[in-house]
Amino acid sequence: MSQLLQIDNLSCRFGETVAVDQVSLSLGAGEVLGLVGESGSGKSTLGRAVCGLVSPAAGRIVLAGEVLPRHFSARDFRRQAARVQMVFQDAYSAMNPRMNVLNSLIEPLQLQGKHRGQERTCAMQWLERIGLPRRFAGRYPHELSGGQRQRLGIARAFITSPQLVICDEPVSALDVSVQAQIINLLHELQRDTGVAMIFIAHDLAVVSHLANRTLVMYHGRLVEEGDAALFTSPQHPYTQALIAANPAAGKALANSGSLRPPAATGCAYRLRCPKAINDCGQHRPVVEEKSGGRRVACLRLD
Ligand SMILES: Nc1ncnc2c1ncn2[C@@H]1O[C@H](COP(=O)(O)OP(=O)(O)O)[C@@H](O)[C@H]1O
Ligand code: SF4
Ligand SMILES: [Mg+2]
Repeated sequence: MSQLLQIDNLSCRFGETVAVDQVSLSLGAGEVLGLVGESGSGKSTLGRAVCGLVSPAAGRIVLAGEVLPRHFSARDFRRQAARVQMVFQDAYSAMNPRMNVLNSLIEPLQLQGKHRGQERTCAMQWLERIGLPRRFAGRYPHELSGGQRQRLGIARAFITSPQLVICDEPVSALDVSVQAQIINLLHELQRDTGVAMIFIAHDLAVVSHLANRTLVMYHGRLVEEGDAALFTSPQHPYTQALIAANPAAGKALANSGSLRPPAATGCAYRLRCPKAINDCGQHRPVVEEKSGGRRVACLRLD
Protein backbone atom coordinates (compact mmCIF):
# COMPACT_ATOMS: atom_id res chain seq x y z
CA MET A 1 0.00 0.00 0.00
CA SER A 2 1.54 3.30 -1.00
CA GLN A 3 1.68 6.09 1.54
CA LEU A 4 -0.86 8.86 1.06
CA LEU A 5 -0.65 10.94 4.21
CA GLN A 6 2.11 11.42 6.73
CA ILE A 7 1.79 13.67 9.76
CA ASP A 8 4.91 14.39 11.81
CA ASN A 9 4.74 15.93 15.29
CA LEU A 10 1.73 18.07 14.48
CA SER A 11 0.68 20.67 17.03
CA CYS A 12 -2.22 23.10 16.67
CA ARG A 13 -3.09 25.89 19.09
CA PHE A 14 -5.96 28.26 19.70
CA GLY A 15 -4.45 30.90 21.93
CA GLU A 16 -3.44 29.07 25.12
CA THR A 17 -5.27 25.89 24.17
CA VAL A 18 -3.13 23.17 22.66
CA ALA A 19 -5.79 21.36 20.61
CA VAL A 20 -3.37 18.94 18.92
CA ASP A 21 -0.17 18.12 20.78
CA GLN A 22 2.72 16.52 18.84
CA VAL A 23 0.70 13.91 16.96
CA SER A 24 2.31 11.72 14.30
CA LEU A 25 0.46 9.29 12.06
CA SER A 26 0.51 7.82 8.60
CA LEU A 27 -2.18 6.64 6.23
CA GLY A 28 -1.86 4.43 3.17
CA ALA A 29 -3.83 4.91 -0.06
CA GLY A 30 -7.23 3.28 0.33
CA GLU A 31 -6.81 2.77 4.07
CA VAL A 32 -9.42 3.69 6.71
CA LEU A 33 -8.10 5.22 9.91
CA GLY A 34 -10.45 5.60 12.85
CA LEU A 35 -9.90 8.56 15.16
CA VAL A 36 -11.53 8.33 18.58
CA GLY A 37 -11.48 10.22 21.84
CA GLU A 38 -13.96 12.17 23.91
CA SER A 39 -15.19 15.62 23.03
CA GLY A 40 -12.40 18.24 23.03
CA SER A 41 -9.57 15.76 22.42
CA GLY A 42 -8.53 17.48 19.18
CA LYS A 43 -10.01 15.13 16.57
CA SER A 44 -11.74 17.80 14.50
CA THR A 45 -8.75 20.12 14.69
CA LEU A 46 -6.51 17.36 13.33
CA GLY A 47 -8.94 16.70 10.47
CA ARG A 48 -9.28 20.38 9.70
CA ALA A 49 -5.51 20.84 9.66
CA VAL A 50 -5.26 18.22 6.89
CA CYS A 51 -7.75 20.29 4.87
CA GLY A 52 -5.79 23.49 5.50
CA LEU A 53 -8.62 24.94 7.61
CA VAL A 54 -6.37 25.16 10.69
CA SER A 55 -2.76 26.38 10.47
CA PRO A 56 -0.41 24.14 12.45
CA ALA A 57 1.73 25.73 15.16
CA ALA A 58 4.43 23.08 14.61
CA GLY A 59 5.10 19.87 12.73
CA ARG A 60 4.32 19.00 9.16
CA ILE A 61 1.70 17.33 7.00
CA VAL A 62 2.78 15.52 3.86
CA LEU A 63 0.10 14.56 1.35
CA ALA A 64 1.04 12.39 -1.63
CA GLY A 65 4.71 13.27 -1.16
CA GLU A 66 4.12 17.01 -0.93
CA VAL A 67 4.60 19.04 2.26
CA LEU A 68 1.52 21.20 2.84
CA PRO A 69 2.08 24.91 3.41
CA ARG A 70 1.39 26.16 6.93
CA HIS A 71 -0.94 28.85 5.65
CA PHE A 72 -3.08 28.07 2.63
CA SER A 73 -3.56 30.49 -0.25
CA ALA A 74 -6.81 30.43 -2.27
CA ARG A 75 -4.97 28.30 -4.80
CA ASP A 76 -3.82 25.85 -2.11
CA PHE A 77 -7.43 25.46 -0.94
CA ARG A 78 -8.58 24.67 -4.47
CA ARG A 79 -5.83 22.10 -4.91
CA GLN A 80 -6.52 20.55 -1.55
CA ALA A 81 -10.27 20.35 -2.22
CA ALA A 82 -9.50 18.24 -5.30
CA ARG A 83 -7.60 15.77 -3.11
CA VAL A 84 -9.24 15.92 0.31
CA GLN A 85 -12.92 16.31 1.16
CA MET A 86 -14.77 16.43 4.47
CA VAL A 87 -18.11 15.04 5.60
CA PHE A 88 -19.39 16.99 8.60
CA GLN A 89 -21.62 16.09 11.51
CA ASP A 90 -23.99 18.89 10.61
CA ALA A 91 -24.63 18.39 6.91
CA TYR A 92 -27.10 21.27 6.83
CA SER A 93 -24.61 23.95 7.82
CA ALA A 94 -22.23 22.76 5.10
CA MET A 95 -24.89 23.29 2.41
CA ASN A 96 -26.27 26.29 0.63
CA PRO A 97 -29.95 26.38 1.71
CA ARG A 98 -30.91 28.01 -1.59
CA MET A 99 -29.32 25.34 -3.77
CA ASN A 100 -31.40 22.29 -4.67
CA VAL A 101 -30.09 18.74 -4.49
CA LEU A 102 -29.14 18.49 -8.17
CA ASN A 103 -27.28 21.79 -8.20
CA SER A 104 -25.48 21.06 -4.96
CA LEU A 105 -24.10 17.92 -6.60
CA ILE A 106 -23.21 19.75 -9.80
CA GLU A 107 -21.44 22.57 -7.93
CA PRO A 108 -18.33 20.67 -6.77
CA LEU A 109 -17.93 19.17 -10.25
CA GLN A 110 -18.01 22.63 -11.82
CA LEU A 111 -15.66 24.11 -9.22
CA GLN A 112 -13.11 21.42 -9.95
CA GLY A 113 -13.76 21.12 -13.68
CA LYS A 114 -14.59 17.41 -13.42
CA HIS A 115 -16.92 15.54 -15.82
CA ARG A 116 -17.20 18.64 -18.03
CA GLY A 117 -20.42 18.62 -20.05
CA GLN A 118 -21.57 15.54 -18.11
CA GLU A 119 -22.13 17.21 -14.73
CA ARG A 120 -25.88 16.67 -14.73
CA THR A 121 -25.64 13.00 -15.71
CA CYS A 122 -22.97 12.40 -13.10
CA ALA A 123 -25.05 14.17 -10.43
CA MET A 124 -28.12 12.05 -11.25
CA GLN A 125 -26.00 8.88 -11.03
CA TRP A 126 -24.78 9.91 -7.61
CA LEU A 127 -28.33 10.62 -6.48
CA GLU A 128 -29.10 7.00 -7.22
CA ARG A 129 -25.88 5.78 -5.69
CA ILE A 130 -26.68 7.38 -2.34
CA GLY A 131 -30.19 5.94 -2.41
CA LEU A 132 -32.22 9.10 -3.02
CA PRO A 133 -35.10 8.93 -5.55
CA ARG A 134 -34.65 10.94 -8.78
CA ARG A 135 -37.59 13.15 -7.86
CA PHE A 136 -35.49 14.55 -5.00
CA ALA A 137 -33.30 16.40 -7.52
CA GLY A 138 -35.38 19.57 -7.21
CA ARG A 139 -35.69 19.55 -3.43
CA TYR A 140 -33.92 21.91 -1.08
CA PRO A 141 -31.88 20.93 1.99
CA HIS A 142 -34.66 21.90 4.43
CA GLU A 143 -37.02 19.51 2.63
CA LEU A 144 -34.77 16.54 3.40
CA SER A 145 -34.57 14.46 6.57
CA GLY A 146 -31.32 14.44 8.57
CA GLY A 147 -30.30 11.11 7.05
CA GLN A 148 -31.10 12.25 3.50
CA ARG A 149 -29.10 15.43 4.02
CA GLN A 150 -26.13 13.42 5.24
CA ARG A 151 -26.41 11.20 2.14
CA LEU A 152 -26.22 14.35 0.07
CA GLY A 153 -23.24 15.61 2.08
CA ILE A 154 -21.50 12.30 1.44
CA ALA A 155 -22.22 12.44 -2.29
CA ARG A 156 -20.82 15.98 -2.44
CA ALA A 157 -17.61 14.73 -0.85
CA PHE A 158 -17.22 11.67 -3.07
CA ILE A 159 -18.47 13.02 -6.41
CA THR A 160 -15.16 14.61 -7.41
CA SER A 161 -13.15 11.44 -6.64
CA PRO A 162 -10.82 12.77 -3.92
CA GLN A 163 -7.94 10.67 -2.59
CA LEU A 164 -8.96 11.17 1.02
CA VAL A 165 -12.31 11.73 2.71
CA ILE A 166 -12.35 12.92 6.32
CA CYS A 167 -15.63 12.05 8.03
CA ASP A 168 -16.04 14.11 11.20
CA GLU A 169 -18.67 12.43 13.39
CA PRO A 170 -20.91 11.92 10.35
CA VAL A 171 -23.63 10.05 12.25
CA SER A 172 -23.49 11.67 15.71
CA ALA A 173 -26.44 13.97 15.02
CA LEU A 174 -28.66 11.26 13.49
CA ASP A 175 -31.29 8.94 14.97
CA VAL A 176 -29.84 5.58 15.94
CA SER A 177 -32.00 3.84 13.33
CA VAL A 178 -30.50 6.01 10.57
CA GLN A 179 -26.89 5.77 11.79
CA ALA A 180 -26.39 2.20 10.59
CA GLN A 181 -27.68 3.05 7.11
CA ILE A 182 -25.24 5.93 6.77
CA ILE A 183 -22.33 3.83 8.08
CA ASN A 184 -23.21 1.12 5.55
CA LEU A 185 -23.31 3.67 2.75
CA LEU A 186 -19.88 5.02 3.72
CA HIS A 187 -18.52 1.49 3.97
CA GLU A 188 -19.85 0.60 0.52
CA LEU A 189 -18.57 3.78 -1.11
CA GLN A 190 -15.15 3.42 0.47
CA ARG A 191 -14.90 -0.17 -0.76
CA ASP A 192 -16.09 0.68 -4.27
CA THR A 193 -13.98 3.79 -4.77
CA GLY A 194 -10.90 2.70 -2.80
CA VAL A 195 -10.64 6.17 -1.29
CA ALA A 196 -8.60 6.60 1.90
CA MET A 197 -10.65 7.70 4.87
CA ILE A 198 -10.16 9.24 8.29
CA PHE A 199 -13.23 8.41 10.28
CA ILE A 200 -13.68 10.54 13.41
CA ALA A 201 -16.11 9.39 16.09
CA HIS A 202 -16.52 9.19 19.83
CA ASP A 203 -18.37 5.88 19.48
CA LEU A 204 -15.91 3.01 19.33
CA ALA A 205 -18.45 0.55 17.95
CA VAL A 206 -18.93 2.67 14.84
CA VAL A 207 -15.20 2.98 14.26
CA SER A 208 -14.47 -0.71 14.79
CA HIS A 209 -16.85 -1.47 11.90
CA LEU A 210 -15.03 0.67 9.38
CA ALA A 211 -11.42 1.21 10.31
CA ASN A 212 -8.34 -0.84 9.41
CA ARG A 213 -6.48 1.00 12.13
CA THR A 214 -7.64 3.18 14.98
CA LEU A 215 -5.94 6.02 16.74
CA VAL A 216 -7.04 7.09 20.21
CA MET A 217 -6.55 10.70 21.29
CA TYR A 218 -6.71 12.21 24.74
CA HIS A 219 -6.36 15.92 25.34
CA GLY A 220 -4.68 16.55 21.98
CA ARG A 221 -2.23 13.66 22.35
CA LEU A 222 -2.03 10.29 20.71
CA VAL A 223 -2.34 7.70 23.47
CA GLU A 224 -2.70 4.50 21.47
CA GLU A 225 -2.88 3.23 17.93
CA GLY A 226 -3.56 -0.26 16.65
CA ASP A 227 -5.43 -2.53 14.26
CA ALA A 228 -8.57 -4.52 15.15
CA ALA A 229 -6.70 -6.00 18.14
CA LEU A 230 -6.92 -2.59 19.81
CA PHE A 231 -10.57 -3.33 20.58
CA THR A 232 -9.89 -6.74 22.13
CA SER A 233 -6.59 -6.02 23.87
CA PRO A 234 -6.29 -2.30 24.61
CA GLN A 235 -3.02 -1.45 26.34
CA HIS A 236 -3.40 2.18 27.38
CA PRO A 237 -5.53 2.78 30.51
CA TYR A 238 -7.61 5.36 28.63
CA THR A 239 -8.34 2.99 25.75
CA GLN A 240 -9.19 0.32 28.31
CA ALA A 241 -11.66 2.69 29.96
CA LEU A 242 -13.19 3.62 26.60
CA ILE A 243 -13.72 0.00 25.69
CA ALA A 244 -15.03 -0.97 29.12
CA ALA A 245 -17.59 1.84 28.88
CA ASN A 246 -18.77 0.75 25.42
CA PRO A 247 -21.26 1.19 23.78
CA ALA A 248 -21.94 4.62 25.29
CA ALA A 249 -18.19 5.11 25.58
CA GLY A 250 -17.82 8.70 24.48
CA LYS A 251 -20.73 10.02 26.47
CA ALA A 252 -19.90 8.30 29.76
CA LEU A 253 -16.30 9.45 29.62
CA ALA A 254 -17.14 12.94 28.43
CA ASN A 255 -19.11 13.38 31.65
CA SER A 256 -16.39 12.07 33.93
CA GLY A 257 -13.94 14.22 31.99
CA SER A 258 -15.70 17.41 32.98
CA LEU A 259 -15.15 16.48 36.65
CA ARG A 260 -11.51 15.53 36.21
CA PRO A 261 -9.63 17.95 33.97
CA PRO A 262 -6.54 16.79 32.08
CA ALA A 263 -3.32 17.26 33.98
CA ALA A 264 -1.04 20.07 32.83
CA THR A 265 2.25 18.29 33.48
CA GLY A 266 3.41 14.73 32.90
CA CYS A 267 0.75 12.41 31.52
CA ALA A 268 -2.45 14.31 30.70
CA TYR A 269 -4.54 11.32 31.77
CA ARG A 270 -3.03 10.87 35.21
CA LEU A 271 -5.82 12.49 37.28
CA ARG A 272 -8.23 9.89 35.91
CA CYS A 273 -5.87 6.97 35.57
CA PRO A 274 -6.25 4.04 37.98
CA LYS A 275 -2.64 3.03 37.29
CA ALA A 276 -1.02 6.43 37.84
CA ILE A 277 2.17 6.53 39.89
CA ASN A 278 4.37 9.46 40.95
CA ASP A 279 6.41 9.32 37.75
CA CYS A 280 3.28 10.03 35.71
CA GLY A 281 3.21 13.55 37.13
CA GLN A 282 6.86 14.17 36.22
CA HIS A 283 7.31 12.75 32.75
CA ARG A 284 5.30 12.99 29.61
CA PRO A 285 5.01 9.49 28.12
CA VAL A 286 6.44 9.15 24.61
CA VAL A 287 4.74 7.09 21.94
CA GLU A 288 6.40 3.68 21.79
CA GLU A 289 6.18 1.13 19.02
CA LYS A 290 5.05 -2.31 20.17
CA SER A 291 4.63 -5.56 18.27
CA GLY A 292 1.82 -5.88 15.73
CA GLY A 293 1.99 -2.23 14.72
CA ARG A 294 0.69 -1.09 18.11
CA ARG A 295 1.82 2.32 19.37
CA VAL A 296 1.18 3.33 22.98
CA ALA A 297 2.10 6.33 25.12
CA CYS A 298 2.12 5.22 28.76
CA LEU A 299 4.88 4.98 31.35
CA ARG A 300 3.50 1.78 32.87
CA LEU A 301 3.66 -0.77 30.08
CA ASP A 302 5.51 -4.05 30.29
N1 LIG B 1 -11.90 27.56 16.59
C1 LIG B 1 -11.51 27.32 17.84
N2 LIG B 1 -11.20 28.34 18.66
C2 LIG B 1 -10.78 28.13 19.94
N3 LIG B 1 -10.63 26.89 20.47
C3 LIG B 1 -10.94 25.84 19.71
C4 LIG B 1 -11.39 25.99 18.35
N4 LIG B 1 -11.62 24.76 17.83
C5 LIG B 1 -11.32 23.88 18.81
N5 LIG B 1 -10.92 24.53 19.92
C6 LIG B 1 -10.48 23.88 21.18
O1 LIG B 1 -9.51 22.90 20.86
C7 LIG B 1 -9.71 21.72 21.60
C8 LIG B 1 -9.93 20.56 20.67
O2 LIG B 1 -11.18 20.74 20.00
P1 LIG B 1 -11.68 19.80 18.83
O3 LIG B 1 -10.60 19.60 17.85
O4 LIG B 1 -12.95 20.36 18.34
O5 LIG B 1 -11.93 18.43 19.61
P2 LIG B 1 -12.90 17.20 19.23
O6 LIG B 1 -13.21 17.28 17.79
O7 LIG B 1 -12.13 16.00 19.63
O8 LIG B 1 -14.13 17.39 20.09
C9 LIG B 1 -10.87 22.00 22.54
O9 LIG B 1 -10.35 22.43 23.76
C10 LIG B 1 -11.61 23.12 21.85
O10 LIG B 1 -12.28 23.92 22.79
S1 SF4 C 1 1.52 7.31 32.01
FE1 SF4 C 1 0.76 6.91 34.07
S2 SF4 C 1 -1.06 8.22 34.27
FE2 SF4 C 1 -0.56 8.09 32.10
S3 SF4 C 1 -1.80 6.43 31.33
FE3 SF4 C 1 0.17 5.53 31.86
S4 SF4 C 1 -0.03 4.84 34.00
FE4 SF4 C 1 -1.76 6.22 33.57
MG1 LIG D 1 -15.06 17.34 16.86
